[in-house]
Amino acid sequence: MNDPIGIFDSGVGGTSIWKEIHQLLPMESTLYLADSKNAPYGERSKDEIIHLSVKNTEYLLDKGCKLIVVACNTATTNAIDYLRKNYNVPFIGIEPAIKPAALKSETSVVGVLATRGTLSSSLFSKTSTLYAKDREVIEQFGDGLVPLIESGKIESLEMKHLLRKYLQPMIDKNADYLVLGCTHYPYLIPQIKKILPPSVTIIDSGQAVARQTKAVLEKNNLLNMLQDQPTFNFYTNSNVEVLKMLLSDVQSELSVGSLEF
Ligand code: DGL
Repeated sequence: MNDPIGIFDSGVGGTSIWKEIHQLLPMESTLYLADSKNAPYGERSKDEIIHLSVKNTEYLLDKGCKLIVVACNTATTNAIDYLRKNYNVPFIGIEPAIKPAALKSETSVVGVLATRGTLSSSLFSKTSTLYAKDREVIEQFGDGLVPLIESGKIESLEMKHLLRKYLQPMIDKNADYLVLGCTHYPYLIPQIKKILPPSVTIIDSGQAVARQTKAVLEKNNLLNMLQDQPTFNFYTNSNVEVLKMLLSDVQSELSVGSLEF
C-alpha cells in the first residue's frame, strides 16, 4: 500500500531519521511534520508534550498515514505510551541508544547528551537502570542546542561554546561512548568530533529506527508493493529555509513547504 509513513518531530531534527528511513525504504512515501513553532519540546511539561504529539498524530492520520514514526526522543519518552493507547496505527519511537553504549564501553563511562525532557523521563531512567546500572552514565542536558539548530546556527561560535561546555565533563571522566539522545544532534557530529578525542565513539539510534520501521511494516503487510512513484512531503509551521538547508544533500525529489498545524 502506498499510503505514506507519517513522521513528526518538534522541528527539523527528525530529518536525520527520515534520511535513514528513506535510505532503507526508498519506495515508501513519507509525510514529515516539523513542529518548529513549538520547539523546543525538551523544556515543556509531559502534558504539553503529549498534547503536541496528539496534534501532530491527528494531522498525519487525517492525511492517511499508515504508520507513525515519532522522530523525537523527547516526544517518544513522554508521549508514546499515550499515543499507542489511543490510536490504532503502529508507532515507532526513538530513545537514546544507551544499551549498545553500555555493553561496548571499555572504560565503563558513557556520556549521554539529550534534552531535559528526555533525561527526566521515567522511560529513560528505566532503560538506563536496566542496561547501564554497572556503568557510570554522565547525563548532560543539551539546553540551547535545539533552538540554535532550529535557527540554522549550527556552526556558530555560540554552538561551539555550548558543545565544549557540555562535552568537557565526559572527556574529564574518560567516557569512551557518547550517546546522542536527540534527533537534532546528528547534525552536530562534525563539530562534536572536533572536541572529543578520536577514541570516543558517537552513537545515535537513527539506523535502528529505520530497521524497526521496516520490520513493523513487513509484519503488518504495510510495505508499498505498488510500483507507483513514492512522494516525499515535508511541512514546517515555521521557517522553511532551515528545513530546506538540512535536506539539501538529498538526491530524491522532495516537496518542502510551510503549513499551519
Ligand atoms: N528532536 C527532539 C528530540 O529528539 C528535540 C526535542 C526538543 O525540541 O527539545 O528530543
